[in-house]
Amino acid sequence: MKKTYRIFRFDSAKPKQKHYDTFKVETAKGETVLDVLIEIKAHHDGSLVFRRSCRHGICGSCAMQINGLNMLACETQVEMLKDNTITVDPLPGFKPIRDLAVDMDPFYEKLHSILPFLINPDSPPTDKERLQSEEDHRKIELATSCILCGGCTSSCPSFWADKDYLGPAALLKAYRYVFDTRDVGLNERLPMLDNKHGLWRCHTIMNCNDACPKHIFPTEDISHLKRKVVEEKY
Ligand code: SF4
Ligand code: FES
Repeated sequence: MKKTYRIFRFDSAKPKQKHYDTFKVETAKGETVLDVLIEIKAHHDGSLVFRRSCRHGICGSCAMQINGLNMLACETQVEMLKDNTITVDPLPGFKPIRDLAVDMDPFYEKLHSILPFLINPDSPPTDKERLQSEEDHRKIELATSCILCGGCTSSCPSFWADKDYLGPAALLKAYRYVFDTRDVGLNERLPMLDNKHGLWRCHTIMNCNDACPKHIFPTEDISHLKRKVVEEKY
């Protein structure tokens, strides 16, 4: 099947020259948009820049906008896309660096700010696992499957309006630890969560739920987190 691909081109050294390049690429059944990008880079234009690593929906690095929706290029089969022309853009909301690659540093900084690790001074690390009941694990299981692709945060209008907003991915990570029964670090995380760029910026728009390739519902977990913070403070 032969389709036309409109690929966003950008160079932060020449920002005024942003444009789309068009390529016609033949694909076989089962091939993905990432396969198309690899084909373009190998045989049409070696200067095309995009991120990828695992090609199996695990590393999160190939998140981009395909026909207006945030998706993983390696999980998006061309035959799933009905249009004959497919437009590929970088993730919106993040600063573009080159072509489809965006600056993810602020995303990771926010993630680190919510202390994404187990906090429990009464239970120092040992050489054994810290066991958890299956029931307790189920509360956070879905949240632990986040691959940090950034698709949710990039799709969030609250984030577009306030670039300092933590965003759904960092808040989901906070939920994952706050609701881990082995963690007691809520008070340490409160200053980051309970401020004008924190939890309360989430207005339950729910774009993040639609954008998540792992079928996580960040909005729901953020709501649980809001309730927990209110209970803790008031
Ligand atoms: S919650 Fe989903 S969309 Fe957001 S970073 Fe994690 S995997 Fe990506
Ligand atoms: S290349 Fe790893 S998730 Fe797509």
